[in-house]
Formats: sequence, C-alpha cells, structure tokens
Amino acid sequence: MIEKIANAPEKAAENAVQRCILPSCGASFGLRERIYVCSRCGGPLEIECRLPMATEASNAESLRKRWLTRAGSSDPRDRSGVWRYRELLPFDDAAPVVTLFEGNTPLYDAPRCAQYSGLQALRLKHQGCNPTGSFKDTGMTAAVTQAVLLGAHTAICASTGNTAASLAAYSARAGLQCAILLPRGQITASKLAQSMDYGAAIFELDGNFDDCMRLIQELGDDPSIYVANSINPFRIEGQKTVAFELMQQCAWQVPDHIVVPGGNMGNSSALGKGFAEMLRLGLIDRLPKLSVIQAEGSAPLAHLFAELQSKKSARAADIPETLKPVAHPHTLATAIKIGAPVSWRKALRAVLESHGQIITVSEQEIADAKAIIGRDGIGCEPASATTVAGIRKLVAVKHIRPEESVIAVLTGHVLKDPDYVSNYHRGTLSESSAGAGDSTPSRPIIGKLRNAPERVAASKSAILERLHQAK
Ligand code: F0G
Repeated sequence: MIEKIANAPEKAAENAVQRCILPSCGASFGLRERIYVCSRCGGPLEIECRLPMATEASNAESLRKRWLTRAGSSDPRDRSGVWRYRELLPFDDAAPVVTLFEGNTPLYDAPRCAQYSGLQALRLKHQGCNPTGSFKDTGMTAAVTQAVLLGAHTAICASTGNTAASLAAYSARAGLQCAILLPRGQITASKLAQSMDYGAAIFELDGNFDDCMRLIQELGDDPSIYVANSINPFRIEGQKTVAFELMQQCAWQVPDHIVVPGGNMGNSSALGKGFAEMLRLGLIDRLPKLSVIQAEGSAPLAHLFAELQSKKSARAADIPETLKPVAHPHTLATAIKIGAPVSWRKALRAVLESHGQIITVSEQEIADAKAIIGRDGIGCEPASATTVAGIRKLVAVKHIRPEESVIAVLTGHVLKDPDYVSNYHRGTLSESSAGAGDSTPSRPIIGKLRNAPERVAASKSAILERLHQAK
C-alpha cells in the first residue's frame, strides 16, 4: 500500500539534511540527493534532523501524549509503529508512505532467561514479530518510501536473508522492481522462500555476504537503482523508531542496559541514534548502556573493541580510521555471518558514548541461549539469541548487576531457521556447517535443553505412562 497523505499539520523534511559523520569532514547534503556515502570524503552519512523543541519539557510531554493517542487511530501512518513517530523522521507530510504496519512489537518479561542470565528480571523486545518476521521492516518502510520519492526503478540489497525478505515485501507493496544479492547456499530456506514469494529477482553469488555488499556499492552508482542496505541513512531513520516505541512501552523509564546482536551494525547504530535524539529532546534523562554481541567467528568489531580497551582508548573521540575485517566469517547464526560490517563506526560510537560493551559468544552459548528463550514461550532465530548469551557473560563479568533493568532486542522470528532449531533438539547440530572452510573441525553442539520428539505406541495408556514418567 502506498499511502499518500497531504496537508496534515505535522511536518518534518525541511528540517533535515544528510551529514557526513566524520568529524574531519562534516559535509552536508540535501535529502533528495541519491547518495549513500559522503560525496566529498567517502565517509558514512547520517540524517541530521533539527530537533526544534529540544530541552523544553512541555514539548517532550506533548510529543509523548501525541504518540500515545495515535496508537488508537485508524490513520495508516498512526497504525505503523514507525510513522507514528513522524515528527522525528526526515519526510514531509505528503510522503508516499509504503507501510505494512510494521513495528508495534511486544516487550515480554522472560523469567527463565533472567534466571539463566543471573538477573532478577529480563525483558525481550521481539522485533521478529514484524510483518516479514524481522526487525528489518522498521527500516525498510522508510527506505522504500524514499526510493519512491526519488523515482527509483529498482531497489537492491545484499543480504544474509532478512533484509532481502523485507525489501522484497516492501518493494512489492510499492510496485518497485526488487533485486537481491545473496551468498549462495548460506541463506536459510525460509528466508529465501519469502523473497521468492514476494517476487524479487534473486541473484545467488559465489562468495560471502561481504562480497555481495562490495558489489552493491558498485551497483549503487547506476541511476535507476536504489540501495536499501543499512549504509543507506534512511533505513537507519526507520529503525531508530524502535527506541521510541520501546521507551513508550517502558513508560519512559530508561532501562540500564539494551543488548543487541551485531552483524552489519545497522541495528545498533539506529538504536544508538534513537536514544541520543530522545536525550536531546528531553524525552529521556540518560542513555541506556548499549551493548552489542557478535558470534565468535564473525566478530571484527568485538576484536577492535577489545583492542581499544586494552589501550585504554575506548572513547568516542578515538574511533580509528579502519576496521580489520574477518576474511572468512563463520557462525551457524547465518544472519550475522559478516566479516566487514558497513556501519561499524556508527555502532562503535553509540556503544562508546553510552558506556556499553562489544563482546563475543560461542556457538554453544548461542544455541543454549536460543533454547532458553524458547522455554519462555517466545522463540527467536539464532542471531537474536546472542543477546541472552551475551547478557549472561556481561553479568558474570559484572558489567551488568543482577538488579539492573535489562532489555534484549530479539531480531528475528523462530521460524526463520527451523532447521537449526530442529537439529539442536535432535542433537544433530554441529559447528562444521558454520562455514569456516576446511580448517574447522566438526564439533557437535550438545544442548542441555534438547527436546526431541519421541515415538510412542498409538494408545492412551502409552501416552499417559510417558507423561507420568516425565513429571
Ligand atoms: N539479527 C538478525 C535476525 C539479522 O537478520 C541481522 C542482520 C542481525 C541480527 C544483525 O543486524 O546487521 O543491523 O547488525 N541481517 C542482515 C540481513 C545483514 O541481510 O538480513 P545488523
């Protein structure tokens, strides 16, 4: 659906520019320039919205009230958990909003996960409950709306599966051609099936995600093409609204910690931006500590972070020029099998500014954390479970105290990777398929929470006997 809404009293766009985030450059560009990196120095871009009502408490309060009222409205923009916050988005009122009513995702209490992690309480914000089953939808509604505004013919992305499924769906809604580049054989069947169903042109390439991403950056030069990866600052704008929705759900009580998985680093960048803007507006009075968790075999930013900490130069002002990529990333959490994340600078800045951490977790830790999330009746895809695994480690090293308030952001739905789930519970999950190449010995992942189906005789007594045994 493309919703064209004119003449509404709220505005936005003329108060925003695209700005290079590098302090040595800081060049700014108009919102209608189809660029993804700074055309002066090649640095990353972000949208800078002038926030006119900053520091005035009454304005913060009126914004809160307005957003709350919208939740009960039937205006398509109000029903979207992204466009509901449109005062802080770089679009004007006539924007041709492409929405699937994304956002509006639940925040759950997870007592078993809390106990597992050594916390008194733990909440899970489940972004897997978005229309295509992942957090990507909150960014894609903004990126595809911008693609329509720019008159693009084709929207394109590289993906480990979820970005592709999301872009394919939103492009279909907008009537845009969609092209996706995928590393062949490294995408789960469910994610691939989604993209096929939504009618995308699917190109499977020999290589990994990072190779696909490099090609995307070349293709982005073509005037008919619009790049929808998180290098695109409009994607980040949509995704930052998750922070607004989350704070609304927390009755504006800032949690002590937010923990997210890290892959290409768009999500952590976006949450960091959302919280920073709320702080500037007086909507919140402090930043939660933002921590990012990477899988051990695909952890370039965690390596850099550890290096900065060992040199005691872990300050936002000390962000180095380059990130050393992981040449052959590997993990069974295929969503985050990424060795050269494009948004690493923005993510690192957000973590350093909020005094968070970037750490790694092992394949066994991810698998066990995933199963415990399942035992809370929630479920998620493997990449999302890095959060609970990471929180457990951060509690153990006392970065998080047991009584602190903690929210983990789950990024994908449990049915995104049913093979992984089934293999874990049947005891057939092994690290050999994590894709590190020949050098990795095959190591079985034996889960403590294994729960395989069992064969029983088709009789009442056999089933009751089995159930009594299990008590
Ligand atoms: N969790 C899931 C389920 C993901 O699909 C991704 C990224 C991440 C976490 C990491 O988020 O990249 O913003 O740091 N998936 C991308 C894709 C790369 O192509 O679907 P990030």
